[in-house]
Amino acid sequence: MKLVFATSNPHKLEEIRNIIPEGIEVTGLSEIGFAGELPETQDTIKGNAIQKAEALFESYRIDCFAEDTGLEIDALGGAPGVHSARYAGNARSSQANMQKVLEEMKGTVNRGARFRTVIALILDGQMHTFEGIVEGTILEDPKGEGGFGYDPVFQPEGYDRSFGELPAEIKNKISHRARATAKLISFLETIS
Ligand code: IMP
Repeated sequence: MKLVFATSNPHKLEEIRNIIPEGIEVTGLSEIGFAGELPETQDTIKGNAIQKAEALFESYRIDCFAEDTGLEIDALGGAPGVHSARYAGNARSSQANMQKVLEEMKGTVNRGARFRTVIALILDGQMHTFEGIVEGTILEDPKGEGGFGYDPVFQPEGYDRSFGELPAEIKNKISHRARATAKLISFLETIS
């Protein structure tokens, strides 16, 4: 089975390729010659995932999936949430986004947060969605060089290291994206 993953983020493509079983070939946008940007103008993570998958399907009529992720921080009323990528501005800088979060969280005792991923799959023209969540806490300072995005400030529940410090093998087992992908894989296995 061949699926196009509607992302131009090489980190996400690599994570998914490490998780997905061998029988499913996952291709990125650059490999199909798509160099533009997919729209993500909805006000929910699920809405954005669906919008990206639909935009790709409308142009190419191929089996494909898109995902959208947000970091939801309890003390910030669920922010940055659907605005995670551009939280500190259109430059989409991970450093600036993390600094903004840390500033806003200064002195805050309630540090509970979660990553939420929704994957929207279009297979044979039908839409299916899968959600994955990992609970955790926001650290006082960034820790670790691994991962990407907000990983250095997020410590998953049950671990004493941030996603930026944990080896990729662990992140790829417990992360929001891993959990949503596991549901996608189970679904694909039931229909194949
Ligand atoms: P998007 O889903 O690419 O729009 O990502 C939203 C924001 O969340 C971006 O700032 C990403 O860098 C960040 N993000 C997405 N996935 C992860 C992750 O697995 N760890 C840390 N940050 C992430």
